[in-house]
Amino acid sequence: MNGETCEISDKGESCCSAQVKSDEINYKEHWDNTYSNSSEEKLGWHETDLTPTLKMISKTDLPKTAKILNAGSGSSTLIDELLKLDYSNILATDISKISLENLQARLGNESNKVEWIVDDLTNPTVLNNIEPVDLWIDRAVLHFLTEPDNQATYFNLLKDKVERNGFIMFAEYNLQGAEKCAGLPVYRYSKEILSDKLGSDFKLVHNFDYTYTMPSGALRPYIYTLFKRVC
Ligand SMILES: C[S@@+](CC[C@H](N)C(=O)[O-])C[C@H]1O[C@@H](n2cnc3c(N)ncnc32)[C@H](O)[C@@H]1O
Repeated sequence: MNGETCEISDKGESCCSAQVKSDEINYKEHWDNTYSNSSEEKLGWHETDLTPTLKMISKTDLPKTAKILNAGSGSSTLIDELLKLDYSNILATDISKISLENLQARLGNESNKVEWIVDDLTNPTVLNNIEPVDLWIDRAVLHFLTEPDNQATYFNLLKDKVERNGFIMFAEYNLQGAEKCAGLPVYRYSKEILSDKLGSDFKLVHNFDYTYTMPSGALRPYIYTLFKRVC
């Protein structure tokens, strides 16, 4: 998994339903439409193998009672996996109500074990009032925030809502990654950029490169990082 490389032969169009300009987008509508029009398995970011994220979670050594928030969870199977692993304090949040409803439908009765929050990370309301969490997981969400103000709002929220000695996992397109996904432009990251944005209260404790293969077979290089809040 470490140091894998890949060539990007397209600029992200293969996972896009349409070309859209960022200042013209209603993001909630965009994501609701995306989740209304496709099953989870056909989405360009769908994973069948969650090993990279699960590996990061195991690095935290957190107890099963730890409060874990999956930001921009969409209808990903991470929540299913966390429940199977007996984590008992899980929050799933997304801007798209439809994505969370799809996930709830898949989980059936198990969905009662999860706290569900529809909110926008760039304009949080409910999230401003949650208790701090022990682990904040973001796979393929932060990189959709291209405006500096939106990035700043999200990072401020993170700094406010992650406990001391708690963790943040980011998995984002790396600097060699595609320039678009899901019809949207993306802002790509390195571990240095993420460290810089989080500031000195957070220490990078683990990272690796990972090349994700989309359902279409196209390759998408990600940077996986785990930060610990040290003060
Ligand atoms: C590429 S999908 C990744 C979904 C999931 N994390 C995964 O790994 O499969 C991006 C997700 O971020 C959500 N999202 C995008 N912008 C958001 C925002 N401003 N606030 C909350 N969620 C957002 C989308 O609705 C979508 O579910």
